[in-house]
Amino acid sequence: MQDAFYHTPVLVDEVLSLLITRRDGVYLDATLGGGGHAEAILSHLSPSGHVIGFDADEDAIRFAAQRLQPFGERVTYIRSNFRNLQSALVERRTPRVAGVLFDLGVSSFQLDEPSKGFSFRTDDRLDMRMDRSQGIDAHEIVNRYGERELAELFWKYGEERASRRIARAIVRRRDHQQIETTGDLASLVQESVGERFLNKSLARVFQALRIEVNNELDHLRQGLNQAIEVVHQGGRIVVIAYHSLEDRIVKETFKRAAATFLPSGHKLVPDTVLQPALKIITKKPLEASGKETRSNPRARSAKLRAAEKLP
Ligand SMILES: C[S@@+](CC[C@H](N)C(=O)[O-])C[C@H]1O[C@@H](n2cnc3c(N)ncnc32)[C@H](O)[C@@H]1O
Repeated sequence: MQDAFYHTPVLVDEVLSLLITRRDGVYLDATLGGGGHAEAILSHLSPSGHVIGFDADEDAIRFAAQRLQPFGERVTYIRSNFRNLQSALVERRTPRVAGVLFDLGVSSFQLDEPSKGFSFRTDDRLDMRMDRSQGIDAHEIVNRYGERELAELFWKYGEERASRRIARAIVRRRDHQQIETTGDLASLVQESVGERFLNKSLARVFQALRIEVNNELDHLRQGLNQAIEVVHQGGRIVVIAYHSLEDRIVKETFKRAAATFLPSGHKLVPDTVLQPALKIITKKPLEASGKETRSNPRARSAKLRAAEKLP
């Protein structure tokens, strides 16, 4: 769909075959975005099937509601962070769902929308908040964090090798001038790393800031743990991650919930038999085919993991 909210959903067939276990179920799309996956899910369900769509970004909810209009009351929209998913479902008297989908990160629309300040390819005010009602933005982090904090941030969430050099360049610039835009930040990264690895460094620094602004990794842990609680027996949780930090959290959360023994060496009661909550379905994460990555570059880094709720 090429419209005001263009975003091509990834791994759609894989999502449908892993997520949908009953065609009349209520499914939770925790990251509604432009509604691409939700549309595919609704088309696959019987007329009594329903989708509850979450997104922190009000523009995403607005665009998805337009796209999903033909499905009428079969969709419920919730503008909220998925870290609140369990309480939001209880409030709406649907405490259990047949499956939960997370398609993490930002949409192509958010990346390219100048006012959101996510991209180093355009020159816009540094912002990067998915939820505009939330306090701290990228401008504040870049202009207020100390040199050490910035270096740690670029290393921890971006694995950027020149993290210290970039942090030093930022703090030096701040001595006489605020860093206002994505272009200002990009030129400081360029000065620090040179041309050869520039695009990779830019991607890593901007990713690190985005993760920090939106507290993405903590929210992912909270959202996943709540998803395990809200899924019916036999229902599935499907997660698509786009970088290794996210994918590691998904892998470890699933592994912990699927464990049948406490690891030996555990301080309290080693080798205790546990009642696992999940069965892991994808031993290795699924990746997009060559055909899909050629037509949708976002799919290149996608890793899909799925697990099933046990009795
Ligand atoms: C990759 S896009 C989803 C695209 C969607 N699957 C589609 O087919 O159009 C990710 C979406 O998740 C939202 N998002 C990311 N983290 C979130 C969170 N913690 N809570 C709620 N929404 C979140 C973003 O605002 C964005 O719209």
